[in-house]
Amino acid sequence: MNHLKSHIAVALLVVSLFATSLAVAAEFPGYIVAPERRTTGIGKFYMGREISFVMGHQAAEWLNRPGRIQEEMPDEVVANMGLEPDHVVADIGAGSGYFSFRIAKLVPQGKVMAVDIQPEMLALIENQKREDNVTNIEGVLGAVDNPNLAPNSIDAAIMVDAYHEFDHPFEMIDGIYKALRPGGRIFFLEYRGEEASVPIRPLHKMTEEQVVKEMSVFGLEWTDTLDFLPWQHMMIFTKVE
Ligand SMILES: C[S@@+](CC[C@H](N)C(=O)[O-])C[C@H]1O[C@@H](n2cnc3c(N)ncnc32)[C@H](O)[C@@H]1O
Repeated sequence: MNHLKSHIAVALLVVSLFATSLAVAAEFPGYIVAPERRTTGIGKFYMGREISFVMGHQAAEWLNRPGRIQEEMPDEVVANMGLEPDHVVADIGAGSGYFSFRIAKLVPQGKVMAVDIQPEMLALIENQKREDNVTNIEGVLGAVDNPNLAPNSIDAAIMVDAYHEFDHPFEMIDGIYKALRPGGRIFFLEYRGEEASVPIRPLHKMTEEQVVKEMSVFGLEWTDTLDFLPWQHMMIFTKVE
């Protein structure tokens, strides 16, 4: 009898684990590769949007242009992230570290995981770390479909002007989602696709509606959109479990 009970208990456990995994697994909406529909991007489409080209490291200096202070207000952005001094924050698509170094100052007992797929960008960050004697930024070489972050290891992730050029956006957000601790947040900054007057090419912009649609595939709650930036949305999503 006890033997039977333990079999039933094991069977129930397997069923409930299966049900849980079904509940949390995000459903992959699929990609469409259609070179004939290509505009200025890579001819690959995700949820109705054409994916942009990756910005090469040769243009990294452009990321540090002085006008960016007025255009993108980076210090105000990081001040609005509500970070605690011991938070671990992933800067995904970190580039030359324009945001990583600002965030590092706000998490003196924590750290910034600066993720990029271009080793040359990570090398720029390493040089800057040495120059400024910064010890709480860790460079992470990501893959196009994997941010290479440990599960349950980060309190927040930020993507600035980067997500639109991820050529595997589903896998990237899936990886970021798994790396977030429960209650962790994603900060999403993209130029506003709703406004024709925002001076950047169409595939480098995103509408709020499109971002919400793409995030809704995951267990992410759209918590807020902060509207203080001249040209970008600062959207916040929270991992709910
Ligand atoms: C336009 S730059 C923005 C850099 C930085 N966020 C900033 O605001 O200065 C976009 C960066 O995203 C990186 N990137 C593109 N696809 C990526 C991916 N799948 N994973 C990580 N980084 C990626 C590029 O290599 C590039 O450095």
